[in-house]
Amino acid sequence: MAEHDLSPFYLTTAISYPNGRPHIGHAYEAIAADVIARFQRLRGRDVRFQTGTDEHGLKMARKAEEQGRTARDLADEMSSYFQQMCDVLNVKYDRFIRTVEDDHHRASQAIWQRMEAAGDLYLDRYEGWYSVRDEAYYDESELKQGEGGQKLSPQDTPVEWTVEESWFFRLSKYQDQLLDWLKTPGNVEPASRRNEMVAFVEGGLRDLSVSRTSFDWGVKVPGSDNHVMYVWVDALTNYLTGLGFPDETANMEKFWPAGLHLIGKDIVRFHTVYWPAFLMSADLPLPKQVFGHGFLLARGGEKMSKSLGNVVDPLDLAETFGVDALRYFLMREVAFGQDGSYSPEAIVTRANAELANSFGNLAQRTLSMINKNMDGNLEAFELADADTQLLDLVRGACMVDLPREFDNLAFSTGIEAWIKAVYACNQYVDEQAPWTLKKTDPERMKVVLQTLLRALGYLGVAIQPVVPEKAALLLDQLGIADNARSFASFDEPAWFDGLVTSGFTIAKPTPIFPRLELPETEDA
Ligand code: MSP
Repeated sequence: MAEHDLSPFYLTTAISYPNGRPHIGHAYEAIAADVIARFQRLRGRDVRFQTGTDEHGLKMARKAEEQGRTARDLADEMSSYFQQMCDVLNVKYDRFIRTVEDDHHRASQAIWQRMEAAGDLYLDRYEGWYSVRDEAYYDESELKQGEGGQKLSPQDTPVEWTVEESWFFRLSKYQDQLLDWLKTPGNVEPASRRNEMVAFVEGGLRDLSVSRTSFDWGVKVPGSDNHVMYVWVDALTNYLTGLGFPDETANMEKFWPAGLHLIGKDIVRFHTVYWPAFLMSADLPLPKQVFGHGFLLARGGEKMSKSLGNVVDPLDLAETFGVDALRYFLMREVAFGQDGSYSPEAIVTRANAELANSFGNLAQRTLSMINKNMDGNLEAFELADADTQLLDLVRGACMVDLPREFDNLAFSTGIEAWIKAVYACNQYVDEQAPWTLKKTDPERMKVVLQTLLRALGYLGVAIQPVVPEKAALLLDQLGIADNARSFASFDEPAWFDGLVTSGFTIAKPTPIFPRLELPETEDA
């Protein structure tokens, strides 16, 4: 019996502000979430995966104004680029939500009414600091002094003094309950982010301003003419909207509470303090986990920004290096949870060393030798000790180590176990030297090549979540049926026996990972 969790799994990303085109940071989060979704599906779980765009608020309203267009028009255009990014990067969501959609307005108003019914909303006057870039209120004590004496938020964004009538949410009431939840390991990961939030809540919570009257680009507060909800109230509610809330739908029943909200480290406070408090107030179960991943930085560890001119379009990268090489690089290079940096050189180096020269080459050599030297035909054989050892190692790496690490979102460590198995196969090829055996012991050559073929089955199955398209190309060439490719269903001996008995032949292979070259402009 499998020991891992097989319950239905609801996975969400943050919904991005479509005030501009997506950048590589957005792609990073979407790809990581897609890897998780695919991995859990291959584990045999019923997965629902939602991503989307967060379209209301002052930031959107101001950007549209700057461009002389309506916020809706800006949102329509930019949101479509986020959808396109998902499509190009092979990010297979079940729903792409846009917060301008009717069902989302309805869900947001419903959660509002539940918070109101709980006695947690009251009308007052807000006077304090607001960062439009973060769409966040900050206490004076949190601010830093920027150049020229300008006040900056903890995220280095400008803040402005704001005074207006506002609805308030009784956040302070939930302080103790929040601390209990926050302190329970597993709810907020990694631990560094959890500790930060515990310290923040222990410092004392003030009630939160949850509506605005100075602009109208948002979800209307029920029963009010001039208040729209604070954008984070509606944004966070997207996770419920996608399941049909407030209706008691089959999806709500099956997928709530969410298994994982995957977000970046800059928005952990919203997801692990405000959101659980809203849910407590609305008497809804809290998510099982919020994970705050690190930031992807430009070359040299610089923050990406328009003014530094180092913002990278993920679609350009995908076009230059290939979608799967990009996905592999992002999951392999950076320890998930920590920050990491990206450069074209690093992508090329990593993809060539591991995908082209090691994995791709192993597949190519093995399949073409079987095709040439055995006419593509397979036959039953007995394993010698060296063969059994190799297959045990590869099976352990692919069916035990990688899944265990992926379950813990330690993608880089999981992929490392996998690439070590690839290296072991390559070492076995060198030691066994099938090209020599061809002349000295053709029977042994067949055993060696078919052992490698069986190892490729494991390697191809395990790496599917990361490089879905290339893995599928390999699994097709290996004759592994579509419905036999999951961690749950892949039965290596049965597959190989099936190939032999059905008379499957290995065709002349198509290379899966050609070597990458650094584009000329990057050399300059
Ligand atoms: N709209 C809010 C989220 C609302 S969720 C209810 C928002 N949008 S965002 O467009 O600014 O960011 C979307 C996601 O991308 C966030 O999880 C954020 O942390 C992540 N990233 C933004 N820049 C990033 C990098 N440079 N690197 C990695 N992730 C980054 O916040």
